[in-house]
Amino acid sequence: MSSVSTSSPGVRQENFRFRCIACGDLSDAASQDFRCGHCGDLLEITYPTWNEKKPDAAKLKSAWQKRRLSSSPVDLSGVWRYRDLLPALDDEQQVITLREGNTPLYELPRCTRITGVQRLFAKHQGMNPTGSFKDAGMTVAATFARRAGFRWVACASTGNTSASMAAYAARGGIRGLVLVPEGKISWSKLSQALDYGAVTCQLRTDFDGCLKLLQELVRQAPVYQLNSINPFRLEGQKTLAIELLEQLDWQVPDHIIVPGGNLGNSSAIGKALLEMRELELISRLPKLSVIQAEGANALVRTLREAGGKRLVSVPAETRATAIRIGNPASWKKAAHVLEATGGACEQVTELEIAHAKAEIGAEGIGCEPASAVTLAGLKKLVKQGFVKAEETVVLVLTGNLLKDPDFTIDFHRGEMFGGGPDSAALDSLRHPPIVLDATLDAVMRTLEKFN
Ligand code: F0G
Repeated sequence: MSSVSTSSPGVRQENFRFRCIACGDLSDAASQDFRCGHCGDLLEITYPTWNEKKPDAAKLKSAWQKRRLSSSPVDLSGVWRYRDLLPALDDEQQVITLREGNTPLYELPRCTRITGVQRLFAKHQGMNPTGSFKDAGMTVAATFARRAGFRWVACASTGNTSASMAAYAARGGIRGLVLVPEGKISWSKLSQALDYGAVTCQLRTDFDGCLKLLQELVRQAPVYQLNSINPFRLEGQKTLAIELLEQLDWQVPDHIIVPGGNLGNSSAIGKALLEMRELELISRLPKLSVIQAEGANALVRTLREAGGKRLVSVPAETRATAIRIGNPASWKKAAHVLEATGGACEQVTELEIAHAKAEIGAEGIGCEPASAVTLAGLKKLVKQGFVKAEETVVLVLTGNLLKDPDFTIDFHRGEMFGGGPDSAALDSLRHPPIVLDATLDAVMRTLEKFN
């Protein structure tokens, strides 16, 4: 099996190494399945140079601010702007970027009232170039794939990873291979992969089956894996948390709430928080909580039934297809950051997801169903007393509303939870389209009805 080295031949020593999350083994190279050569567990990226000379927090903050005025591609990227905390490149021209990151932080006044917390924000990662948080990780991992000389990159996906990978592969002039579960991802996401020119295979299995096959493939073929097992992805996704803190003027929120699927994103955000505290960019940690769909609740069960010691995998089923994952690869990393930050792990029903999604939509923001688990979860955490009324909360909205129009249309047309016992609570949030004759009278009468 070929390996992915941290250093290119003839190039200066890198600023990072790979560390196994279980046995702690340090190495300069990773095998293509990104697993430890000794114990087989996942790898993470670590920066030994910080032990010798810690980057200065005030200098970092000022450099990041200054870069906002620059027009160079690495500074315009809301990921590479924070490159001091990322694996270093020999040459900034190597970067494959679509100006990712730079995502807005919105206040949510309606949802603040609904949940009763003091301040509620949404960090909207759905405003990335391909409409999801995946772009932040993909710019880093695709850049390192090309730099290591790979001609092919590949991923298994519930849709967003494939859309993002296909875009970055196209921009970087490398080939992309996408493995998605047939019939179980939204057309919007599939159409992105097709348009960006990836070789797209719809496999007759679920996401977990696709990922298993990909792991076998990368052991046999010179294909670079771009799932979140790839630690470069998580380094890029870390910048979400750095940008968030910068937007909050380094005032630490009490809670950050994130959806959980394969659990890469929660692991990345947690790593960023721990590193920011280590570097004294922040003096305390927010509690990082993960919310899952009840039908895809592997981490919830792993923590409740096995004390976080072994993975309890589940047969996954949810209409929030992005997080329809039963065997999450990064469960150990996520369990670690939950414990380190004192966060919670909750599950929410399909009805609660639909309800919360409509409430986020009614703010004029919108998101895809998987992102709405955050608001649904917050309501539960407030009820349980875990989140207090005087606290500040940030929801990470991971995907754009346009990613899953079928869900939204079905909801508003009453084809989802319509007529059932729970329908009444949802009806005030439904805005079905109205078919009319093309007359002024018909439109005027409709206007009056809603007045
Ligand atoms: N939200 C959205 C919109 C996603 O697409 C995903 C994952 C998640 C949340 C969960 O993030 O896996 O890091 O815990 N989507 C992957 C994909 C698996 O293939 O697009 P996670």
